[in-house]
Amino acid sequence: MRAMAERLGSDPEMWGITGLLHDLDFEETKDQPSQHGLKTAEILKARGIRDEIIEAIKAHNAEALGIDRKSDLDVAITCSECITGMVVATALVYPDKKVASVKASSIVKRMKQKEFARGVNRDHIRKCEQINIPLEEFADLSIKAMAKISDKLGL
Ligand SMILES: [Fe+2]
Repeated sequence: MRAMAERLGSDPEMWGITGLLHDLDFEETKDQPSQHGLKTAEILKARGIRDEIIEAIKAHNAEALGIDRKSDLDVAITCSECITGMVVATALVYPDKKVASVKASSIVKRMKQKEFARGVNRDHIRKCEQINIPLEEFADLSIKAMAKISDKLGL
């Protein structure tokens, strides 16, 4: 999310925090997809967190909540959480299991293979194009950002 903010001239701190907080209510709502994000919104609102962050957190679950994605941040959180899954899944089939070994072109290719990492939402990944980042560039940016924290990811 920080890398996306930098790419789009937005605020890396705010976008990074949105990424960190976006699944805050996951444990509580994992069996109730229609509540996912709403609980987090309640918690963050009570703490005075700014609306843009709260809206984006709800927007990452827009389909289940019946709302639209409006801001760049709304779209970025949606496509970013999904591309990370594709990058991890691709790294894991490499001999060295390293994110740094993954190529953007491989991500694009793997996305077309329905059976590969089938839980990863391809439509959500492609939303990067709605904020004017071509898919392969988005994959490359994501790989590089993840490779920077490879020690934390263990990949
Ligand atoms: Fe989520």
